[in-house]
Amino acid sequence: MVEVSVSILSMKNENAIQTLYNLETSGIDYFHIDVMDGKFVSADTTSKMLEYCEYLNSISNLPLDVHLMVKDIKNYINSFLVFEPNIITIHLEATNNKEELLDLINYIKENNVRVGISIKPNTKIEEIIDYLPLIHIALVMTVEPGKGGQELIPNTIQKIKYLNNYINKNNLEIDIEADGGINPENVAMLKDAGVNIIVAGSSITNSNNFKEIVTKLKA
Ligand code: DX5
Ligand code: ZN
Repeated sequence: MVEVSVSILSMKNENAIQTLYNLETSGIDYFHIDVMDGKFVSADTTSKMLEYCEYLNSISNLPLDVHLMVKDIKNYINSFLVFEPNIITIHLEATNNKEELLDLINYIKENNVRVGISIKPNTKIEEIIDYLPLIHIALVMTVEPGKGGQELIPNTIQKIKYLNNYINKNNLEIDIEADGGINPENVAMLKDAGVNIIVAGSSITNSNNFKEIVTKLKA
């Protein structure tokens, strides 16, 4: 059974608290918090995501799955640690060298948070192979990071299959998370490829029956 992490990036702002409550009771497993700094990607969602995390801290017990699409990673980790997230995922492409990445991985773990590394569609799996034994989540972007509502990029499925084979062959304890353009029509391909956590944004938040979509994604 896959877990569903709902991206709240594209949800409508009006009565956000009611929407978050409706999402909470729709059967999701995580709230996926898409933090963008306007530098690693052109959009800046920092204040919106901080506001939503404030709401969630008061209305929800569901774990937070924080996806940092930012350059100044350590400062952003500190800004979101206050919400005691379950997962903090950072982008390989936003780090400058192996030492920095290892330091950030340790820093997140020292704060009792599961650590993930995310890679963009054009980044090869080989580039994160060395870090897999050290992390909890490998987040494979199935769209270019930066906005919601995009189409899933088909050749990212092959990357997920390759990653899943490597994980199984090496008996690694790591979850594969896929993020971007996922809906009930394409989710089966991702499950077959070995995904453990599905991120879905607009396919859930654009629907008028959250529970129905989440149930289909998990079926
Ligand atoms: C894109 C984000 C994704 C996105 C998912 O940069 O990381 O989480 O919001 O939204 P959909 O499901 O609409 O592609
Ligand atoms: Zn995301």
